[in-house]
Amino acid sequence: MTGNPNPINLKVLLESQGLERCPFPIPVGWYFVDYSENLKPGELRNINILDQEWVLFRTENGKVGVSDPYCAHLGAHLGHGGKVVGDHIRCPFHHWEYDTEGWCRKIPYGKTMPPMCKKQPVLRMLPTVEKYGMIWSWYHPLCEAPSWELPHIPELEDPGYACTRRGSWSANTCIQEIAENGPDNAHLKFLHGAPVMPPVETSYDGPRMRLNLGQGYIVGDSYGPGLNVMRFTQQGVTATMISYSVPITREKTQMNMSFRYKDYPEGSKELQIAKHLVAHMIGAAEGEESAGFESVDFIVWNHKKYRPHPLLCDGDGPIMQFRQWFKQFYVTDEQTLARI
Ligand code: FES
Ligand SMILES: [Fe+2]
Repeated sequence: MTGNPNPINLKVLLESQGLERCPFPIPVGWYFVDYSENLKPGELRNINILDQEWVLFRTENGKVGVSDPYCAHLGAHLGHGGKVVGDHIRCPFHHWEYDTEGWCRKIPYGKTMPPMCKKQPVLRMLPTVEKYGMIWSWYHPLCEAPSWELPHIPELEDPGYACTRRGSWSANTCIQEIAENGPDNAHLKFLHGAPVMPPVETSYDGPRMRLNLGQGYIVGDSYGPGLNVMRFTQQGVTATMISYSVPITREKTQMNMSFRYKDYPEGSKELQIAKHLVAHMIGAAEGEESAGFESVDFIVWNHKKYRPHPLLCDGDGPIMQFRQWFKQFYVTDEQTLARI
């Protein structure tokens, strides 16, 4: 037997055996926790986001806290029997109290506070703000402070806008895989059925990415992994999809969205166009062949695996640039080791 003159590269064929679905930690960023209206003063509940359990509460004076569940004293779970007391959350076990930044503020039976309690917060709490009528928390695996701020979004904060439509969808994949659909303009034609492959351009500026699809038809601004504002414009009418996804686990993401447009008069052509644009973003809009994400993207997201070395062709969008940009949101093992 002579050797095969054209030996195949086995690595190419066998690589899929070692692939993982979501080989990433939870990325750094601001994440939507809940709508402000869903948390009343004095309320406290357990939530599961960012790959762990947290205790979400609102103090009697209205401040929101997102706390690690386990008390710094002896580890009781604050979300089972804990209470909001004034401006603090109180542990059920020995009534230690913490403020929304995780400082221990009261030990009802100790004469002096343990020295550590005077130096720093002793309970991990996520930096949390309320904006756009929503509760947002900053996640950093090494508890670093926010390195950017949430932007002003006129459609959610200024007068003159309408549409209260919101939606929430659960995807069995990580946030990076969902976001990668943005620069992947080829799938718009082949998966969504768009009549043409819209040209795509991306630009990057720190945690921000701008995506321009179809020369201004869709302009998307991402602010880290957890906030994405996409403006769809047709015949001078813009409809905006504000998307705020949050990782539930490393392999599950809750996609949340609000849809807004200018407060056009009832019966106007503009309103009709705006409504059509919104329908088109989500599902199959009447009279159009292409389908929004709801009808087609999940079948891919829920089952695909991540190929770190994809085989791309010259027609593909800037997928590798997107991945390079997204990398900044992952804290590496080396960074972690250097810090602890
Ligand atoms: S375990 Fe929380 S106060 Fe003791
Ligand atoms: Fe898509």
